[in-house]
Amino acid sequence: MRVLFVSSEIHPLIKTGGLADVSASLPRALQTLGHQVTLLMPAYRDALAAASALGVRLIATHTIDGQHVRLLQTRLPRARNRVWLLDCPPLFDRPGNPYQGPDGHDYPDNAERFALLCHAAALLAEDRLGIGWRPEVVHSNDWQSALVPLLLQDVRPRPALVFTIHNLAYQGLFPAATLQRLALPARYWHPDALEFHGMLSFIKAGIVFADRVNTVSPRYASEIQQPAFGYGLDGLLRHRAAVLNGILNGIDDREWNPARDAALAQRYGTTTLGRKSANKRALQQELGLASDEGTPLFAFIGRLVEQKGIDLLLAALPELVRHPAQAAILGSGETASEDALAALAQAHPGRIAFRAGYDEALAHRIEAGADVFLMPSRFEPCGLNQMYSLRYGTVPVVHAVGGLADTVVDATPEALADGSANGFHFLTDTPEALLAAARRALALHADPEAWRRLQLSGMRADLSWRRSARAYEQLYASALADTAAA
Ligand code: ADP
Ligand code: GLC
Repeated sequence: MRVLFVSSEIHPLIKTGGLADVSASLPRALQTLGHQVTLLMPAYRDALAAASALGVRLIATHTIDGQHVRLLQTRLPRARNRVWLLDCPPLFDRPGNPYQGPDGHDYPDNAERFALLCHAAALLAEDRLGIGWRPEVVHSNDWQSALVPLLLQDVRPRPALVFTIHNLAYQGLFPAATLQRLALPARYWHPDALEFHGMLSFIKAGIVFADRVNTVSPRYASEIQQPAFGYGLDGLLRHRAAVLNGILNGIDDREWNPARDAALAQRYGTTTLGRKSANKRALQQELGLASDEGTPLFAFIGRLVEQKGIDLLLAALPELVRHPAQAAILGSGETASEDALAALAQAHPGRIAFRAGYDEALAHRIEAGADVFLMPSRFEPCGLNQMYSLRYGTVPVVHAVGGLADTVVDATPEALADGSANGFHFLTDTPEALLAAARRALALHADPEAWRRLQLSGMRADLSWRRSARAYEQLYASALADTAAA
């Protein structure tokens, strides 16, 4: 199949979170299965700089929405996929983050910026830039590319339209007047289309007009059809239930593999698990934690936003490290969380270390050096870090929601007995519940043999993209079959 995969971030060109990882590893896995998956993303300043090392060439120019744009072609590292970068300097040649300025506020013209991405995708889908390539499937991801199914719904013949929700909390909501600013037909101003409580919603366009909608874990697919996780869209999602499903993300086995990871002090695998402790020593030293192999080391890595349950972490950590235990935290995001974590680290020198910022190599060293990984997320569509942890023999303690519940098997007596256990669940989002699960982890950690079984069970789990890429293949095929029949 020929697929145009549209995303607002692609690792390693630019990344703020898991969307970037998935937007590289899924297309790569599909290409390996024999499909031709071309990616489209804006040519942000940093992405263009990263791409220049891979080779960039101009393949088309066009005027879209009154903007002169250039289409640049580069490629995905370690793969045969083409990557198309939509170059429009007035909108994308800005420093840093794809969505926000240096002041941490969303760019005021984000609706225009990502509408341009969607218009470009729609033109490319019809080969209107004269490239000589027409996709059979157009797969868009999250609100930034959610207008694509709307823009293509009336085209004949048209490609199959697939939309993936990576996070329902980000919906792309803009004032009503945006409809005219983006020159979208007035008929879309309707609760069955783009209107959401008086605002214009990008994500609704994807949910309403795609042939297939999916999200990134089976559990999250059912959660978002309930008011508690639906962010006001649960009714619409129930209405679309017949075309909605959940496909678990995989992880990139080449990038996240403790046996091959160049960032580590010492590489290790299932037969050399003893070497993991060298990474713990190195991490303790790097972060200024007390050098003590016996003290359990907990870790957290992530965006410091409400979703990730930082408040639970802040409330539980002082108690947790009294056990004794240590904590290594890496994250960037809301200033209040950064300040609170920095204060906590200062109050517990040698016990709690906090690094503010985004640091890919340190993330790898933390995954390798920690004993336990904490993910107290309030909701988690899939989550990648718990899977990286499983792969690295770092036992996850998770709030049992979304993809966390689908990938981590709680160490109940039964699961321990049959060898399927690989981590710990807690069921309510309270610091007490988090602490109780962490204490269960500490108790098992005191039994080296039992702990080792838990680690090995996680390390041996199949978390690769192979299976999930097949599921996307089927999703594309069923959308195509419907489109052909229409
Ligand atoms: P989300 O997409 O909601 O942020 P995921 O768990 O799917 O959550 O993916 C997060 C990705 O971003 C992981 O690859 C994680 O290692 C990475 N990450 C998040 N924050 C940081 C950070 N401060 N430094 C390095 N990597 C980070
Ligand atoms: C989102 C979700 C995360 C998921 C990622 C990739 O950012 O928050 O849970 O793993 O997308 O699908």
